[in-house]
Amino acid sequence: MERVKTLISEEEICRKLDELADQINKDYEGKELHLICILKGGVMFMSELAKRLKVTVTMDFMAVASYWGDTSSSGSVKFIKDLDDPIEGKNVLIVEDIIDTGRTLSFLVKTLENKAPQEIKLCTLLDKPHRRVVNDVIVDYVAFTIPDEFVVGFGLDYDQRYRNLPYIGVVEFVD
Ligand code: IMP
Ligand code: MG
Repeated sequence: MERVKTLISEEEICRKLDELADQINKDYEGKELHLICILKGGVMFMSELAKRLKVTVTMDFMAVASYWGDTSSSGSVKFIKDLDDPIEGKNVLIVEDIIDTGRTLSFLVKTLENKAPQEIKLCTLLDKPHRRVVNDVIVDYVAFTIPDEFVVGFGLDYDQRYRNLPYIGVVEFVD
């Protein structure tokens, strides 16, 4: 049987989202912000964050699948759903659920940089810095830095389940 042990409560997430949104509202004052959600994991984080933003916001969504060999740092990211709108001249903020090895975001940023945005910044709900393999990604906004544990909830899944949990937890296997 599985059960989920709470790691970050709903209240803690809400408090942190308020803080993060305050910071983004300051940083983008007088500017327009183009949010790009990385599906599916980023969906709840982006919705909750966007509700707290006071700057002018537009949104787009993309879905990617990563294929990496076990040992090599090369690999590729397949676009399952590409962006709908051009990003040329826009202040892009990529919204991710979690940065683990960093490979997905590193590839994504390189790809999006070719589309002539004004700037690209990264925002992630969770960061697992101990797992980083690719170090060329600078994450501008991190809600929570967590230890090397597999987590679910608030958009993150285990076998597609648990995305709907309003908190973040660790799956435990019990008899
Ligand atoms: P990476 O940074 O390229 O290794 O890929 C990060 C992606 O792996 C995330 O967008 C998640 O989809 C997935 N992932 C990594 N760690 C976890 C976790 O603890 N729970 C759920 N998904 C995870
Ligand atoms: Mg993901």
